[in-house]
Amino acid sequence: MQILEDRYGRLHDYLRISVTDRCNLRCLYCMPEEGVQFAASETLLSYDDIVEIVKVGASLGIKKLRITGGEPLIRPNLHELIGQLSAIPQIEDIALTTNGIYLESQAEKLRKAGLNRVNISLDTLDPTRFKFIARNGDLKKVLAGIEAAAKVGFSPIKLNCVLLKGINEDEIAQFLRLAYEQPLHVRFIEYMPIGHADEGWKQHYLPLSTVLDIAQKEGYNISEKNEIQGNGPSENWEFSGGVGSFGLIHPISDHFCKNCNRLRLTSDGLIKPCLYWMDELDMKSAIGNSDELRNVYYKAMQIKPQNHEMAEKLLDIAQTHVPTERRMSQIGG
Ligand code: GTP
Ligand code: 5AD
Ligand code: SF4
Repeated sequence: MQILEDRYGRLHDYLRISVTDRCNLRCLYCMPEEGVQFAASETLLSYDDIVEIVKVGASLGIKKLRITGGEPLIRPNLHELIGQLSAIPQIEDIALTTNGIYLESQAEKLRKAGLNRVNISLDTLDPTRFKFIARNGDLKKVLAGIEAAAKVGFSPIKLNCVLLKGINEDEIAQFLRLAYEQPLHVRFIEYMPIGHADEGWKQHYLPLSTVLDIAQKEGYNISEKNEIQGNGPSENWEFSGGVGSFGLIHPISDHFCKNCNRLRLTSDGLIKPCLYWMDELDMKSAIGNSDELRNVYYKAMQIKPQNHEMAEKLLDIAQTHVPTERRMSQIGG
């Protein structure tokens, strides 16, 4: 069977699966305050549909899965899907990206079902600012979720902090301290213009060189460490004498597309070859026919573009394809 290699020689072994486009929060970098038009529930892939798509992917070399949303933990009985996915022999790593609000109550069930890792969004350590950025929810619940994740044995635990100029940049030193003192991996992420480049993105975009400047100013002795378990684009650092570590995800100041190894499946059954562009392929209609499902994977390899053009967007340089109109919550990051 032909493996998933695209026109640029990149091997694809990682599938990000969005199980819902709904979310209990409205993070300002991800979804507008009023929400978006959510997919009708009857259009969502069922767990059986997802398992069927993954089994075909696994026969073509997919080994790593990440469950995303919206907020994946609002989909009922997510642990049942994890259980079915972890029973697929070729699957070596199943991870979850969550906002953490419902993690405390579900951590144990998810772990027992075979989930290996969790990445939890945390953009601020200040409860009032949390309400401003997430526009809902309670920081305490997220912190309880992080604690529960550690207690049931997830490792590494990664925290995703999207840096927003003028909003949370003054917390970089605090986040570095957290990573120095606790067994956590804090990832700083550049704010990406997904589906909403014109709504104040440029005003709040902050390049991640700022984090290294602050680490130096704070007197940390840091060095690159790339053994942190992960399948994504993070460049990882450790502190001499520190307990945890930190990572930088910098799609705009220095893009990492040449190492891209991933495809995305939306909750309504489309394959997105790239996070940034509009191109999508209908996987849902192929359900029930393995040859057709395989063809959609192969087609994704044929049409996948070489890279995104977020840096060009920042400089007002014309785009070569049409960027997606989906918001991040409708793709899953
Ligand atoms: P690990 O397996 O732990 O490395 O996970 P990950 O970093 O792939 O997943 P996560 O869902 O935690 O994503 C962290 C950030 O990386 C989010 O802001 C994602 O949108 C971003 N990200 C993940 N994959 C890509 C990608 O292919 N392109 C771009 N531009 N950003 C990505
Ligand atoms: N830019 C960068 N990261 C984003 N995320 C959501 N929207 C954006 C954006 N516009 C992150 C979330 C979550 C992950 C799935 O993607 O913080 O951790
Ligand atoms: Fe919800 Fe995550 Fe988007 Fe925030 S970043 S609105 S938590 S999907």
